[in-house]
Amino acid sequence: MTLEKIRQLVAEMTLEEKASMCSGADFWHTEPVERLGIPASMVSDGPHGLRKQDDKADHLGVNESIKAVCFPAGCGTAASFNRELLTEMGEVLGNECQAEGVSVILGPAVNIKRSPLCGRNFEYYSEDPVLASQTAGALVKGIQSKNVGTSIKHFLGNNQETRRMSVSAEMDERTLREIYLAAFEGAVREQKPWTVMCSYNKINGVYAAENRKYLTDVLRDEWGFDGYVMSDWGAVNDRVADLKAGLELEMPSSGGSNDRLIVEAVKEGTLEESVLDRAVERILNIVFRYAENRDTEAVFDRDKDHETARKVAEETIVLLKNDGILPLQEGKKIAFIGKYAKEPRYQGGGSSHINSHKVTSAMDAAAGNPSVSYAQGFRDEEDRIDGALLAEAVECAKQAEAAVIFAGLPDAFESEGFDRKHMRMPECQNELIRQVAAVQPNVVVVLHNGSPVEMPWIDSVKGVVEAYLGGQAVGGAEYDILFGKVNPSAKLPETFPVKLEDNPSYLNFPGEGNTVEYKEGIFVGYRYYDKKRMEVLFPFGHGLSYTEYTYSNLKLSTGCMKDTDSLTVSVDVTNSGKMAGKEIVQLYVGDKESSVIRPVKELKDFAKVELEPGETKTVTFVLSKRAFAYYNVQIKDWHVESGTFEIMIGKSSRDIVLTQTVTVESTVRLPMVYTTDSIMEDIFKNPEAKAMVMEAMAGSVNFAPEEAGEGSGAEAISVEMQEAMMRYMPLRGAVGFGSVETGITMEDVKALVEKLNALEGA
Ligand code: BGC
Repeated sequence: MTLEKIRQLVAEMTLEEKASMCSGADFWHTEPVERLGIPASMVSDGPHGLRKQDDKADHLGVNESIKAVCFPAGCGTAASFNRELLTEMGEVLGNECQAEGVSVILGPAVNIKRSPLCGRNFEYYSEDPVLASQTAGALVKGIQSKNVGTSIKHFLGNNQETRRMSVSAEMDERTLREIYLAAFEGAVREQKPWTVMCSYNKINGVYAAENRKYLTDVLRDEWGFDGYVMSDWGAVNDRVADLKAGLELEMPSSGGSNDRLIVEAVKEGTLEESVLDRAVERILNIVFRYAENRDTEAVFDRDKDHETARKVAEETIVLLKNDGILPLQEGKKIAFIGKYAKEPRYQGGGSSHINSHKVTSAMDAAAGNPSVSYAQGFRDEEDRIDGALLAEAVECAKQAEAAVIFAGLPDAFESEGFDRKHMRMPECQNELIRQVAAVQPNVVVVLHNGSPVEMPWIDSVKGVVEAYLGGQAVGGAEYDILFGKVNPSAKLPETFPVKLEDNPSYLNFPGEGNTVEYKEGIFVGYRYYDKKRMEVLFPFGHGLSYTEYTYSNLKLSTGCMKDTDSLTVSVDVTNSGKMAGKEIVQLYVGDKESSVIRPVKELKDFAKVELEPGETKTVTFVLSKRAFAYYNVQIKDWHVESGTFEIMIGKSSRDIVLTQTVTVESTVRLPMVYTTDSIMEDIFKNPEAKAMVMEAMAGSVNFAPEEAGEGSGAEAISVEMQEAMMRYMPLRGAVGFGSVETGITMEDVKALVEKLNALEGA
């Protein structure tokens, strides 16, 4: 529907009808206005499947939803580093939505993994904003290609579950821009999600729902978002303030009470009706975009979509460690041990919980292989060693030539609604791994978890496979990877620290009372571990394969550029092993020398290439200003400092294989603002300013110290020391030097400051 027609409709609506459009009709629908032909539209959870509730509604994943297909959760899909695959998954989800009459799927959830403890990490993508945003964007692209909307969430600063509805996430602007906003930015700018869901929490003291700065100034005015913003379920605090700030749709229904507040505010003149009209316009625009593009032919073929879920799962399973044990040989006696071999933990709890129409376990997949035996090994309802199950598992492992232990985190250990208390696996499972490894030298551990765990047994097993929460088809994908029918091709979208205490947020997670301070700033994940040169269990970007890849021929389009130019980077990747596979090529950029504190390197782009044995492909990246920039709070913009930058190509963040440098020249000069506190070192960077200061202070301050004469009291002070003292001297420090006649007064300093600022045009 054209904007003009939508405006006509809005003009025909009563004040009450308009106010009612701004909140849900019920838990999952927008309000219809039948007399004007405005339909209700349905939204449903996901995002890694469809949680469409027909009867009893809730936002905690408690009541039944329709039978659907559960794809791998965000933790896994990010590990695929495969945009095309994510888009394909999105297309399938979009089609399911069309078949089920769902207009917007509530996701993807793109919040940064600040701490491994966040209960919803399994839904989120990464500790890195480029990877998170690109993954989310690829999914949005696929879903929306089917004329179904997405709701990228939870905007903003929702990086923990503890006190999620009241906590204030406190952080500086640079951190927000470089890490937390950046996770949304790329996806919003490039893929234009139809809607955005604001989070429950506050950002620097202001609820996300009424945060004009982010909902309007950044989201709409800077990034060009043109859909509608909806609240997380129950996130509205002050309805009228929220509407003014840029929150169009309150979800779910407020039972009419908040609609009445809107009506009253317009009548009293405290809310301009045009603000309400604009909100309704934005909502109707999306309601009709869906209604007018219905695919009445769409069919939800669950079995077919299960196969796509399996294909996605194959690329979300990360091979973390392989001391030559994998792939296993079919025909050899293999013991599958652990409850998750038969009943995999493949999704997390809460609003993203899918009612899977079927589940394939690794044991199901092994049905045709008589040499696979099974023992349960542990229970997961509580962390208690079951002696009989343990003994049976040890015996089963002894009888086999290799043992694969299917372990991980039980539901009670991670979920929406609460954060983890520690990073350990249940002790009963750690004990099982220890005891099996004591009798069987060939042990592989397959993990089912949404977030990193400590691995106290790492040295006693030969292989570790991170299956994340791989969706309902996970078992088939696991089996094929274990037996080498599929070559693992995923890499970690997050660092696995050795222990929780190593994590940069450790001292400030989940905060004090209703405040959590992000004191680690931009140093989230590998940005921190790299800067501190810390040992980690597995680094960001790590993942093994059954083949070998070699890199060569790194080329930059230029060795010297302006920050307004773009740089083309190309590199050749060869499959030098014996099995076809897919390699994830990672491009990091590091500023070699910088006056601001920056990470050693940051991921700026990545590509996944499929290669037959012996095959070589050239991968090309194009980098623009943003790849070299940091967020400068003074000019409130991205800024590149002139200098040399390293372009690093890595197999992981800790395995950089090729490096080249490029010199970038800034086209923006940061304006200097002089005050009486400005120090000589900073002033002297500008030769004109230096001359001005030298002249003003001639005769009173000595800027050229000489070697102290023998026997003088200043003997112990070297020229370097004198220079250093001078370098750090503020302008006001010059007052009092020299004699009464020649000395500088505070008035002189203030006049000098004015002259200096005039020089800058300030
Ligand atoms: C969650 C959202 C979800 C909504 C609707 C909230 O509790 O935070 O992610 O989309 O419920 O179920």
